[in-house]
Amino acid sequence: MPPKRVAIVTSSTRSPRLNPTITQYVYDVLISDPTIPTNHSGTTDTDPRHITLEIIDLEKQSLPLYDESVIPASLPAADPTPHYSKAHTRAWSAVVRQYDAFIFVTPQYNWSIPASLKNALDYLYFEWKGKPAGIVSYGGRGGGKAADHLRGILTGLRMRVVGTAPGLPVKFTGFPVGTLSEEEEKVQLDERDLAGWREAGVEGMMQNLGMELPLLMYVP
Ligand SMILES: Cc1cc2nc3c(=O)[nH]c(=O)nc-3n(C[C@H](O)[C@H](O)[C@H](O)COP(=O)(O)O)c2cc1C
Repeated sequence: MPPKRVAIVTSSTRSPRLNPTITQYVYDVLISDPTIPTNHSGTTDTDPRHITLEIIDLEKQSLPLYDESVIPASLPAADPTPHYSKAHTRAWSAVVRQYDAFIFVTPQYNWSIPASLKNALDYLYFEWKGKPAGIVSYGGRGGGKAADHLRGILTGLRMRVVGTAPGLPVKFTGFPVGTLSEEEEKVQLDERDLAGWREAGVEGMMQNLGMELPLLMYVP
């Protein structure tokens, strides 16, 4: 049995932005935890709990503001992809269908999630329905209000949301003055933020999330 595929979703799309750096941090914490059953070796194995972690960046999907003429929840559940009216929706549907579960890494924008994430979620329905989802938020105080809103939206999409939702307070990490957009990937996490997260047990919460997600995948 091939490993189940988990997508870690980078949700903000402005430039420059912190989201790719935070997403990479989440990926690194999960991939380095020996208790999370990841298998990236490409070898055949017999452990049905194995997962792979991959990053999806919403900025690279280039979705316009929602313009689909059909209502996603009204399409045939088993194969909605060919029924969308727009090529970009069909492409996004095909991407999302490849994954068995998702971890959404989102900043807080005005007490909620960025419009880019809500937009990407709204485009589809059956591609999300029933799949496990985890939430990691960040913001001045950890982005808890964004996480709460996202939990409601994902529940509306009938996703199975993991209880543990780590929030990362970003107090010191910033962009170097004069940053160019192509340099955004070079944003470094400030050691004081990293130390604060460790002290608050955030990495442990992330590991719990990483362990809960595969369990949900095998509960019918
Ligand atoms: C439009 C906007 C609204 C924001 N609103 C909040 C907020 O409500 N609470 C908060 O803690 N931080 C807020 N912030 C700060 C962001 O959480 C912080 O800038 C973060 O780096 C944004 O993620 P990004 O760089 O990936 O876009 C806001 C930032 C933006 C751009």
